[in-house]
Amino acid sequence: MLRRGLRALLPLAILLQGAEAVDNGLALTPQMGWNTWNTFGCNIDESIIIGAAKALKDLRLDEYGYHYVVMDDCWSLHKRNGTGYLQYDPRKFPNGIKHLADEIHAMGLGFGMYSSAGKLTCGRYPGSLHFEEKDADLFAEWGVDYLKYDNCHNEGQSGTPLISFERYERMSRALNATGRPILYSMCNWGEDSPWDWAPSIANSWRMSGDIVNVFDRYDDRCPCEDYICRLPGHHCSIMNIINKAAPLGQKAHAGGWNDLDMLEVGNDNLDYEEQKLHFTIWAMVKSPLIMGHDIMQTSEETMRILTNTDILDLNQGRWHTGFRSYKKEKSQLWLQDSKDQTGNMAVALINNGDEDGEFTIDFKDIFLDEWNRRKVGYEVTDLWTKESLGIVEDKLVVKVKRHSVFAGKMEFKGDPEMKPHSKKLHGGTDEL
Ligand code: GAL
Repeated sequence: MLRRGLRALLPLAILLQGAEAVDNGLALTPQMGWNTWNTFGCNIDESIIIGAAKALKDLRLDEYGYHYVVMDDCWSLHKRNGTGYLQYDPRKFPNGIKHLADEIHAMGLGFGMYSSAGKLTCGRYPGSLHFEEKDADLFAEWGVDYLKYDNCHNEGQSGTPLISFERYERMSRALNATGRPILYSMCNWGEDSPWDWAPSIANSWRMSGDIVNVFDRYDDRCPCEDYICRLPGHHCSIMNIINKAAPLGQKAHAGGWNDLDMLEVGNDNLDYEEQKLHFTIWAMVKSPLIMGHDIMQTSEETMRILTNTDILDLNQGRWHTGFRSYKKEKSQLWLQDSKDQTGNMAVALINNGDEDGEFTIDFKDIFLDEWNRRKVGYEVTDLWTKESLGIVEDKLVVKVKRHSVFAGKMEFKGDPEMKPHSKKLHGGTDEL
């Protein structure tokens, strides 16, 4: 009854506030947390999820912003109940999902749920297509704070942006109508260019097929090398996703982010340098930072990456969304402009070649549009070693190991008159 009342009042409330878009007030900076899928796949249960939430707290990762504990696919029974509601698997969740959400809330964390905008989820459990309101109501009743919404078994309802939009919009409306703020994380793998239509209905949208813990590899299971893609697939390497994401930053904004997929930091097969590179670019393009490793077994090295506050600041702080300045055969230059008109700039030089190298970065490739900013000096700090490189002019010379990154903050040291004055800085339109 109360819920119906809320449903009736909500459109009026929206009109009165003049609000539009996803309108849940969430993800004003990219969401952060942990998800079960990359480590546990379908082998999930209550003890794993509670154990993960406890580990996140014990490691104090919540103090760095990691807030949501997201339960991915395979949590339900294979059939809805007699009245059409989803049912949790009581063998995996003997105390039910509400209890699980309560436990996670008691730790001060948010609880994430998973479903698919299809007849079935990717693991072939019932999906939410045609059941959007029922499922959203149930999720709200259970105390869900976040919905990851997948794309499997969509019964052919894709192929044009409008068809995909309408399918995903139904769940957006249903979530909003519950009256509970539920972060809406779309997972349609970049199909039908979600960056063009998801910003008004969702807090984030995946822009690629599934990530794999491989630095750089061509793989026919992830055949696209460009962001427009008919077959997003899976087993997409870190460099494959970075290359696809490079031009999309312009579509990011407060409350709506390009999701490059869950982090592979802390998983095997990537070395320390590769993980630093992966984490830096995810942060710069303002992807949600959702950990995917076995959090109960987090190493010190993994902690060093996940809690680098300077890199986290690029993701959560007052910086525009990062973008790529150039791509050469074995290197790429990424930029991120400060939002507060200090004249500061963040740069990242990726060495994706197989040899360690020295790279000269010309200021003309850093200050692309505002020529005055090329004429002054900047104090440069390495955001991984924390060392100062002193004041540099005209160009920046950095040594970068193979498969690694130099990430630096450039602090403006010139005549204040030369600080950027135009509002048209480069980067995304992500004003708060
Ligand atoms: C995929 C999705 C993964 C994971 C998996 C679950 O479509 O991209 O992140 O959720 O389904 O079956």
